[in-house]
Amino acid sequence: MHEEDLAFFRKWFLDYVGGFSSPDPLVRENIELKTEHTKRVCKNILLLAKTGKLGEEECQLAETIALFHDLGRFEQFTRYKTFKDSDSENHAVLGVKILKKAGVLSHLSEKEQDLILKAVEYHNLVEIPESAKNSPELLFHSKLVRDADKLDILRLICKDYESGEKSRNPALELYLPDTPECSGPVIEDIMNNKMAKIRDVLNQNDVKLLRLSWVFDINFPETFALLRKHRYLEIIISSLPGTEEVRRVRRHLEDYLEKHNK
Ligand SMILES: [Fe+2]
Repeated sequence: MHEEDLAFFRKWFLDYVGGFSSPDPLVRENIELKTEHTKRVCKNILLLAKTGKLGEEECQLAETIALFHDLGRFEQFTRYKTFKDSDSENHAVLGVKILKKAGVLSHLSEKEQDLILKAVEYHNLVEIPESAKNSPELLFHSKLVRDADKLDILRLICKDYESGEKSRNPALELYLPDTPECSGPVIEDIMNNKMAKIRDVLNQNDVKLLRLSWVFDINFPETFALLRKHRYLEIIISSLPGTEEVRRVRRHLEDYLEKHNK
């Protein structure tokens, strides 16, 4: 892979996204949201890749994966008006289909194409599949994009919580009701150091808890350092009800972060 390939991908991406302009302000807002998200995931991934001292070509591959990781989001939101995969379709698989159909990666070697497509496909799974663990390169790039993606989603939702009730974007909370409780299985997963499951998420508090539980799928010390620096977890916890249950979650997550304080 060469710098010209990356330049072509960046241009292709912007042209592709430009095709989704819409008179509907909700669609416009969310297309813009994912365009900006993609740009920041590209920045995050380079930040993480550089601390891992990756070579130039590996950085280009990482950036390509970041650029295309949410490609399916644009068609998903335009078609279904939601980012919820279970109410529409898996946006990672959709992104892979779009890339293949358009032949975007066809100038790259088979090996590079396979790596990019798989890392895109795996970026939103609860866990990276066992089969990926036989390929150190795929495993590394899958971990990298998952960390870079989570960092930006956490940044985005913290900004949304801090901006107050009125400007909230309902698509970020998956259109779930704002009821006062927290679901038992979601709390239990956190207390067992597991990522919460989307099927257990029933209201906005659960969405926040689910995002807090991502900390158990963070892979790189640099990502932990950025989480602490920006106080993302504290900001999300502060937006939850002040119950004993939430205090327990806070203590548990603080202990977990402390253990990863390298
Ligand atoms: Fe995604």
